[in-house]
Amino acid sequence: MKTITASTSRPYDIVIGQGILGQCGDVIQSLFPGGETVIVTDDNVEPLYLDILKRTLEEAGIGCVAFIIPNGEESKSMDIVEELLEFLAKRNVTRTDFITALGGGVVGDLAGFAAAAYLRGIPYIQIPTTLLAAVDSSVGGKTGVNLKSGKNLAGAFHQPSLVWCDYDTHKTMDPERYSDGIAEAIKCAVLKGEDFFSLLETENLYKHVEEVIENCIRLKLRIVSEDEFDTGRRQFLNLGHTIGHAIEARSGYEIPHGHAVACGMVAIADIAATNGLADFDCRDRIANLLKRYGLPTELPYPIEELTPYIENDKKRFGSTLRLIIPENIGHCRMVPIPVEEISSFFHI
Ligand code: GLY
Repeated sequence: MKTITASTSRPYDIVIGQGILGQCGDVIQSLFPGGETVIVTDDNVEPLYLDILKRTLEEAGIGCVAFIIPNGEESKSMDIVEELLEFLAKRNVTRTDFITALGGGVVGDLAGFAAAAYLRGIPYIQIPTTLLAAVDSSVGGKTGVNLKSGKNLAGAFHQPSLVWCDYDTHKTMDPERYSDGIAEAIKCAVLKGEDFFSLLETENLYKHVEEVIENCIRLKLRIVSEDEFDTGRRQFLNLGHTIGHAIEARSGYEIPHGHAVACGMVAIADIAATNGLADFDCRDRIANLLKRYGLPTELPYPIEELTPYIENDKKRFGSTLRLIIPENIGHCRMVPIPVEEISSFFHI
């Protein structure tokens, strides 16, 4: 078991280990003496892990009830947030109580957002049960839901009080969903540098899961501690995401996030090289590593079908997009591009 401390505005611990789900009760009790919790989980995770979690919480004297949502992105909605907020209110949840998110990114983002909103903020704990949530969404305090106009358009920065990551829970994941997490881990390796990247190139990721998760979390925490509220440096975590988000949207969210980010990373590395900002060797190494783990590397749509989504990205800065360009492994650069120059930058 390994503990890493996040030095954000409200510091918290991230505990990583194998088979540790059933041991979190006492740690949580010490954070919230006398507190009770509402566990938010989905109908995939509930039959697998809810009982284990409830048992350790109850043994530690923490009262708990579960709020179970249907699995899938559809649940990351204002309607479900409202249901959850009403559930909290009807149960007389107070500020000494807390929410526990048991699941993947949808559960964590939704539960964190409800925690940020209820009584103007109550604490919450992240227990990520997917690789993607372990290496990315459970850490850093971004919470939120989708609107009809787009993904993650309503949300809040709200740091968890604890992240408890038992990577044994990833064993029950569908391999395709697991590879979404691998894509984010490869993104972290491109940002972090040669040591981590060559570990993934030469070793078997599945045999080094704890090291992989730790590398991703340490990278993310370093960036988030410099820019918790995402006004600058944190945007480096969006490597591959500008084109990735466009792929997801163009596919009507049929193409999953990690697969879209994989294609987006190769595409931006290729565009960077074509513009003389990087060499093609970097693009090739990223593509080869993604292929090694069965991830896609070719754009599923012509780039001209993606640029309208990129130009309309609601998270741009005024009329400028900030593209993250991989110049080399461990060296990325932020390049601001006016929206009207996107097509020529992408060589259309
Ligand atoms: N997933 C990117 C971030 O947390 O900033």
